Amino acid sequence: MVNFILNTKIVATDKPETFLLLDFIRYQKNLTGTKIGCREGDCGACTVLVGELKNNELQYRSFTSCLTPIGNVAGKHVVTVEGLNMDDLNPIQQAMIEESATQCGFCTPGFVVSLAGFCLSTKEPTEQNAIAAIDGNICRCTGYKSIARAAAKISQLLQNRGAEEPATFLAKHKILPEYFTSIKERLQELALGKKSTITINPETYPFLGGGTDLYVQKHDQMQKTEARLLYNLPELNQLYLEDNKCIIGGAVTVTDLKDSSIIQEHFPSFLNYFRLVSSTPIRNMATIAGNIINASPIGDFTVMLIALRAKIILTDGINSRQIRLRDLYKGYKQLDKKPEEYIEKIWFELPDRNWKFNFEKVSKRTHLDIASVNSAMGISLQADIIQRIRISAGGVSPIPMYLEKTSTYLTGRLVTDQILTEALEIAQSEISPISDARGSETYKRLLLNQLIKTHFLILAPQFELELTDT
Ligand SMILES: Cc1cc2nc3c(=O)[nH]c(=O)nc-3n(C[C@H](O)[C@H](O)[C@H](O)COP(=O)(O)OP(=O)(O)OC[C@H]3O[C@@H](n4cnc5c(N)ncnc54)[C@H](O)[C@@H]3O)c2cc1C
Ligand code: FES
Ligand code: FES
Repeated sequence: MVNFILNTKIVATDKPETFLLLDFIRYQKNLTGTKIGCREGDCGACTVLVGELKNNELQYRSFTSCLTPIGNVAGKHVVTVEGLNMDDLNPIQQAMIEESATQCGFCTPGFVVSLAGFCLSTKEPTEQNAIAAIDGNICRCTGYKSIARAAAKISQLLQNRGAEEPATFLAKHKILPEYFTSIKERLQELALGKKSTITINPETYPFLGGGTDLYVQKHDQMQKTEARLLYNLPELNQLYLEDNKCIIGGAVTVTDLKDSSIIQEHFPSFLNYFRLVSSTPIRNMATIAGNIINASPIGDFTVMLIALRAKIILTDGINSRQIRLRDLYKGYKQLDKKPEEYIEKIWFELPDRNWKFNFEKVSKRTHLDIASVNSAMGISLQADIIQRIRISAGGVSPIPMYLEKTSTYLTGRLVTDQILTEALEIAQSEISPISDARGSETYKRLLLNQLIKTHFLILAPQFELELTDT
């Protein structure tokens, strides 16, 4: 039985945990304001808010309900566009109308829900943050300028919020309904859905994280199967420091990582990389472990973590073992992992002060796209000599790669144009890209060279390298 609060009411359903939230909302609860567009997480027409208690704080995040299994919202608050309605149009809806930000209206509920999520967050109420909140919503007929104007207007409504709890402020100023102020206590009372063990037949049922990969790749199959849900397990939701290790639990999401004070302190540049990965709702749902296990040769976090020399701890619930992340990949989508093993933790050593890191990604469009080629590099220099260097690359072989020979060659050297040319030749000998929809083999080879040069430009400008397009 899955229980959660849907808008104002507690619902309990005996539908399987893998049943889609979108179908539940529309076909079981007749809340048809939530629209169906792509069913692949791309358009945002199906956006809902999911509120949960984290460290006793109520936190709302936008989710695409078309990729959300109901088991992942157990014990939480799900808000559809109907749950934002007041006697008259609320100021978010009003702003969309005043700024002519809606025409056919199909996408509008998704935009309104995402903007309500921005209002419910504690993010600084800037125009830029309001627009970032709708980066997962696509509109096919209204101009984005008018939607951006509406978002700016909404950010103005929040200017005097100060440190007041968002739900209290929004209710007081009649921006969102009053009932939001009682949700925290209602969730505490509900305190449901937090399973602490993995029970179901380990051999045949897939592990399920955020569902952003599985529900795209195996949409119909997921509806008919049971799964082992990891998403709500408290022990897998931790991100913390232990000695000098950054430890990421097997259900930590991309947004958890982005918002973590550890990452912000030690990797300030990461904020720029997150913007290159999917969209706000997908980042809210997608786990880092899911990125690793889906074994895409272009998984962005996999490539970053390989350059960070990450290790993973695999467990079957009884026995655990640790391996280097880069050793997990044995061939295209072939892993050194037994079916009953799941990722309990991912960890890497926090680098010392000399250590610098960069990630680059080239895709057909800058945002909301997967990479043609991506690459990460970590480097530590002393008197311009490379002490340590780790270069990884995606999209250039059947697996996400650690460029071992290239990294070994560069270690201990002062980089000159000649040395870099030789290093790039070694990198070219390590990779085996194929021509596909993301680019030809020749193009991907050229991209890798350019991305490695870019790493040096950004991390070691003192080398003053010539950057010709060889
Ligand atoms: C619109 C859209 C945009 C995207 N953009 C990007 C992008 O820019 N860059 C990118 O890299 N990816 C992108 N993705 C792919 C996907 O979001 C990520 O790979 C994501 O990290 C997968 O995580 P998940 O928790 O949703 O995985 P799930 O779908 O839940 O699972 C994926 C796989 O991992 C397994 N799994 C999950 N957790 C564990 C665990 N703890 N232990 C063992 N196995 C586990 C599952 O069994 C499954 O095989 C995008 C996806 C969508 C839908
Ligand atoms: S229907 Fe397009 S994102 Fe869900
Ligand atoms: S108003 Fe028609 S798709 Fe956005």
